[in-house]
Amino acid sequence: MVSVLPQIFGSFNTTGIIHRAIQSGLISIETINPRDHAKGRHRTVDDAPYGGGNGMLLKPDPLIAAMEAAPSSSHRVLLTPAGIPFDQTQAARLANFDTLTLICGRYEGFDARVEAYVDEEISIGDFVLLGGEVAAMALIEATARLQPGVLGNHNSVRDESHSTPRLEHPQYTRPPCFRELTVPEVLLSGDHETVARWRHAHSLHRTVRRRPDLLKSSELSDEQRRLLREFSLIPETDAVFEDG
Ligand code: ADE
Repeated sequence: MVSVLPQIFGSFNTTGIIHRAIQSGLISIETINPRDHAKGRHRTVDDAPYGGGNGMLLKPDPLIAAMEAAPSSSHRVLLTPAGIPFDQTQAARLANFDTLTLICGRYEGFDARVEAYVDEEISIGDFVLLGGEVAAMALIEATARLQPGVLGNHNSVRDESHSTPRLEHPQYTRPPCFRELTVPEVLLSGDHETVARWRHAHSLHRTVRRRPDLLKSSELSDEQRRLLREFSLIPETDAVFEDG
C-alpha cells in the first residue's frame, strides 16, 4: 500500500480476521509512505495544480518513488473515483495476483502522470472519499477473504451475495421471538430441503425487489414463479417488479 496516511491502517491490520490472516502468514500488508521518498527539508508530498483551482495534488515524484519501492512484480492498482467499478468479479480477479500495490490518493487528487505507472485504476463506487485509503481497505477485505484459509469455512464464500449473482437470503439467530418479531417457522422446522427452498426463494425475491439489474432476464421462469408462490412471495398473476 502506498499512502501518505499509513496510520489509518493501524487498527485495520491489528483487528479481527485481517489480523488473524496476517498472523498466520496467509496475507501480509506493508505500507510505504511517499513522504519517506520526498526530497527537501520539509519532505513535501503535495503542490498546487497547474492552471489554478482548489486544493493540492500529490506530487508525482515521491508517489512514484514510493510505488517503485514495492516489489517490481507487484500489480499496481490506483484507487480513484475515476477508476473502473469494483465488484465481486473484480475482487475475484484481483485475488489471483500474488502481490498488489494499492496506491491511495489524498487531498484533492494526484498528478495525472502517476496513471502512466499503474496497471489499472479502480473505484469502489460513485462517491468521492477523502482519499483512497478506505477504498484500499475495502479492496483488501474483499480479496483477502477469498484467499484459502482466511475464512474458517469455505462455504461462506460460496453462497453469498454476488458470487452467484443474487442477494443473500435473510438469516436469523436466537431468540425465536424478539419484540414480537418472529423467526420464520420453516427455519425452525429442521426440514433441510424446505429450508434450502425457502432460502432460494427469499434470495430470488430480494434480488427481484432490490436489484433486478442483477438478474439476467427481466422475466422469471415458470419454476422461479412456482418457488416464489410456494412461500407466498408473489401474488398468483402479478408482474414481479411492481412493488419494489
Ligand atoms: N478515492 C476517493 N474516492 C474514491 C472512490 N470512490 N473509490 C476509490 N478511490 C477513491
